[in-house]
Amino acid sequence: SVRRTPLIAGNWKMNLDHLQAIAFVQKLAWTLKDAGHDFNTVEVAVFPPFTDLRSVQTLVSADKLPLAFGAQDVSEHESGAYTGEISAVFLSKLECRYVIIGHSERRTLHAETDEQVAAKVAAALAQNLSPIICVGETAEDLEQHGPSAIPVTQLRAALAHVSTAADIVVAYEPVWAIGSGQAATPEQAEQVAAALRAVLVDVLGEDVAAKTRILYGGSVKSGNIASFMREPNVDGALVGGASLDVDEFAAIVRYQK
Ligand code: G3P
Repeated sequence: SVRRTPLIAGNWKMNLDHLQAIAFVQKLAWTLKDAGHDFNTVEVAVFPPFTDLRSVQTLVSADKLPLAFGAQDVSEHESGAYTGEISAVFLSKLECRYVIIGHSERRTLHAETDEQVAAKVAAALAQNLSPIICVGETAEDLEQHGPSAIPVTQLRAALAHVSTAADIVVAYEPVWAIGSGQAATPEQAEQVAAALRAVLVDVLGEDVAAKTRILYGGSVKSGNIASFMREPNVDGALVGGASLDVDEFAAIVRYQK
């Protein structure tokens, strides 16, 4: 079976301004280096607000920090009269490697549809950004449709314009587990991750499916990360609240220790 490099990703949401971001990223890099972290074994990425990205890029490139970074959203359009939107072209120029797409907060608070998510995924891939496609069911969905139905439907829709060679990441974030302190169980995460991998096999083929990382997100902390990482189809985590504390986030990255 193919080895997938685990990815620990910190979604800062609307937290930390660009000055705080600089201090945070410096401290994170030093904390991990001090701990002897091997960045080739577990990849680390941060997702600051748009206004921080230039500062983070400058720091990462000047100090050659082994950290990846990306944006929390992207426009489906390349350029033009879209007030307030940010193009994948700009993110790519800022050396973003990833972009989060279809986070439940975008879907819920900004009424993003599956069609928009699919268009954003295509826009990201067109600029060689790796989309982190977020899917997940609400508590109500879970009760009505069971654990995998909604995430599977959302992933199929998100892959509408994706070619078989695409470099993507999938994040399973049950809405009821986000910021609630009530994480899914590792068994629940594995069950849905396995169903999502089956979608990848079906749509993109065995090879791409075997290489694609599937992350779990929703109340991940240093105390529960290892239990998720033991599951065969869980290849990392998308961390919200616990990614805002350097020591806690570093401890999540160092889950093997
Ligand atoms: O994108 C990560 C996020 O939605 C999970 O948030 O605070 O439950 O780790 P949190």
